Amino acid sequence: MADVGAPKDVRPGTGTAARTGAGGGRAAAGYTFRTAAEWAEFGAVLDLAYGGHPHSPAHSAVVGALFEPKRSLVACYGGRPCATLAGYALEMTLPGGPAPVAGIGYVAVAPPHRRRGLMRELLRKALTALHEERAEPVAVLHSTEPGIYGRFGFGLASQAVEVSVPPEARAFAGEVVAAGLTLDVVSPDEAHAAVADVYRACLSQRPGLLRRDAAWQRRAVEDEPAGRHGAGRLLCMVVSGPGGDARAYALYRLRPAWERSRPRYALSVREVFACDPAAYAFVWRSLLDTDLAGAVTAACCPVDDPLLALLDDPRSAAPTVRDQLYARAVDLDRALTARTYSAPVDVVLEVRDVMCPWNEGRWRLCAEPGGGAVCVRTGAAADLALGARDVGAVLLGGGSLAQLALAGRVAELRPGALRAASAAFRHDPAPYCPTAF
Ligand SMILES: CC(C)(COP(=O)(O)OP(=O)(O)OC[C@H]1O[C@@H](n2cnc3c(N)ncnc32)[C@H](O)[C@@H]1OP(=O)(O)O)[C@@H](O)C(=O)NCCC(=O)NCCS
Repeated sequence: MADVGAPKDVRPGTGTAARTGAGGGRAAAGYTFRTAAEWAEFGAVLDLAYGGHPHSPAHSAVVGALFEPKRSLVACYGGRPCATLAGYALEMTLPGGPAPVAGIGYVAVAPPHRRRGLMRELLRKALTALHEERAEPVAVLHSTEPGIYGRFGFGLASQAVEVSVPPEARAFAGEVVAAGLTLDVVSPDEAHAAVADVYRACLSQRPGLLRRDAAWQRRAVEDEPAGRHGAGRLLCMVVSGPGGDARAYALYRLRPAWERSRPRYALSVREVFACDPAAYAFVWRSLLDTDLAGAVTAACCPVDDPLLALLDDPRSAAPTVRDQLYARAVDLDRALTARTYSAPVDVVLEVRDVMCPWNEGRWRLCAEPGGGAVCVRTGAAADLALGARDVGAVLLGGGSLAQLALAGRVAELRPGALRAASAAFRHDPAPYCPTAF
């Protein structure tokens, strides 16, 4: 997110967004808005907003190191912060390669100040600043509840699947060829270089993956005792190749459990990355063969995770899909040209966008597979009509325009336009964003 200005108070109703009147009503009177001063300012609001669970000093140090005060906003009442929004400058793999995106997190409003338009105003100011500064063209966030951000033009851009493999369904459909591969189990600290190397090698594999510097990697391997819920410390399984180079890793933990005097430890997998199929199959085979383990559960896998094709009995793993990352175009033309397309496309989109009215109207998008895309305003007749939320849903290649049309959210105005555009926007493999922010 762009620097939203000096840390001085800004009265709601005096900024650019206020002049546009976009995106619903104003925040109630009596509130002031400013950029954040330091992470500690967020603490009291987050503690109240999430039900009285203050961050531990260790967790505050991890998330505080990522904090970008000039991109982050607070709303104040009586001079005291009562609502927060954190902004991050991120780099995310989009279809075609890495691109800058604006991460939004810690949107929180203290209970006495809710339903007065503070979240709406914070988002409006953040998006308007990105637009005016011509900063990142795409904004992304993870949401505590799926029903919150659609009204602000954020669409469901990636999904995740939870799998839980019971002991009786661990068999793979084929042999695992592990020749030359070795396995080690170490602490995430000891595996620091291996985790960084493997993750970096995987970064271009899928849209949605975020580049992680040392501070973001610390967040990815964070092991808060309060987050263990009876399980042991976080462990890291590392698979290495014949030359000792790291080829795969899995972050996981074990929670002791016994059934009728037999060990049935719950093994929870946080994330798995691998540089090649052999290392991937080997690390999963090793997780499933862990002594003492009962069900092996991975709460957040890609929807097209190869594990589902490795298992001989994927039904027993009860894959359950849920929403993951939400995305929206800050500037429609810059967002649609930040990615490549899977098929030729020449389409005129009629876009509705109440929150970011500068995106409203007709845009012509032209692209060839793998090549650069062009998106310009046009007076030509529209081929498809859709809202900002639907654009957000297909930005990373995960959502399907055809599906959205069947749901009545996208209208096809020229026969044939929908099928061509839907094929162009889709991306294989599916987007996936396991990094919390
Ligand atoms: C969610 C939260 C940030 C909303 O803040 P708020 O200032 O009360 O929201 P606003 O008054 O700006 O509401 C704007 C709109 O969102 C809706 N909304 C607010 N919270 C919602 C929720 N949890 N689910 C669905 N809709 C919600 C409002 O009804 C309003 O709808 P409208 O379009 O009909 O006007 C606040 O309730 C909160 O801090 N919750 C706990 C922390 C949390 O879940 N944060 C989200 C992190 S991703």
